[in-house]
Amino acid sequence: MKITVSLIKADVGGYPGHASVHPELIETAKKELEEAKNSRLIADYHVLAAGDDLELLMSHTRGCDNSEIHELAWNTFKAATEIAKDLKLYGAGQDLLSDAFSGNIRGMGPGSAEIEFTERKAEPLIAFMMDKTEPGAFNLPIYKMFASPENTAGLVIDPSCHSGFRFEVWDIVEHKRVFMNAPEEIYSMLALIGAKSRYVIKRVFPKEGGKLPSDEPAAAVSTEKLYQIAGEYVGKDDPVALVRGQSGLPAVGEILEAFAFPHLVSGWMRGSHNGPLMPVSFKDARCTRFDGPPRVIAAGFQLSNGRLIGPVDMFDDPAFDYTRTKAQEITEYMRRHGAFEPHRLPLEDMEYTTLPGVMEKLKERFEGIK
Ligand code: F6R
Ligand code: MG
Ligand code: MG
Repeated sequence: MKITVSLIKADVGGYPGHASVHPELIETAKKELEEAKNSRLIADYHVLAAGDDLELLMSHTRGCDNSEIHELAWNTFKAATEIAKDLKLYGAGQDLLSDAFSGNIRGMGPGSAEIEFTERKAEPLIAFMMDKTEPGAFNLPIYKMFASPENTAGLVIDPSCHSGFRFEVWDIVEHKRVFMNAPEEIYSMLALIGAKSRYVIKRVFPKEGGKLPSDEPAAAVSTEKLYQIAGEYVGKDDPVALVRGQSGLPAVGEILEAFAFPHLVSGWMRGSHNGPLMPVSFKDARCTRFDGPPRVIAAGFQLSNGRLIGPVDMFDDPAFDYTRTKAQEITEYMRRHGAFEPHRLPLEDMEYTTLPGVMEKLKERFEGIK
């Protein structure tokens, strides 16, 4: 049986500021999705929160980009927005860029990662949710999981992983995509995905001739860019991803290992700063210091005929304490740069800027240099 898992998220109001999601929003979303489960629109669901983002994880048999599923997510965010308005939460409804739903949630503000696949005898799935960062934050960990022999032992020693994987990379500025094979093309692929604000990994597929269907993704990442959609800054494009594991795919532990290094990502404070990505437990998915630092949570599941058995809070583990300590050292180190790059992003990447105003005031005082 083919199952679709859809992870759709939006910031429909923060509490306080951009720190977390109010429990009443989570309850409202659960109520909406429970009704959809009872009416058999979806097979199962879980509602989670990462920072100020409300996360809807749904399983169903309607395929990717299904208008009924997207409408369900849209209506759920709308219902949560009503509560957010009533509680006067911060930025109530900020990621819902339109009043009316128009068939697909993509381009309307929320972010989504979806995979349709044939459920195996045992199907492990990890849902990753990040706050205060951008889709390119997934480039390094997804690359590590599916292409780095230093991270994924299976690429070296498991015959069913040894031939590698196929990556779908999007150019989010020119709206084009390219498929590339790892390991054959990793140097060329890294030339692209190292530039993470422009080239993002959208999906990863098993290669042809292996034990898994080559057209059923092993991983998918949300790649919406809110500022491009809206033409102005209206919120963050905090990304989510789904990754399937085991039996010809990276093991769950290899998938998680990719987050043991707190790499620098952009999107912290006012969407305009670089900082370390800190893996945290569900209860620590609250952005505090300088509105961050950027965080990621991991919800682990086994699928059983579409039922989402879980979640297991995968980063709620002392094995990630060292990563968190390292992330805090990097936080301190980056913060000491104050207003200077590379803590602050280069001018063209900042989501807030006073520069035009500053230049206007100074324009009479600028003089030529001989
Ligand atoms: C939001 C974010 C925050 C805000 C900051 C200023 O996701 O990254 O750091 O950008 O709190 O928010 P405003 O402009 O709403 O006062
Ligand atoms: Mg917010
Ligand atoms: Mg957010």
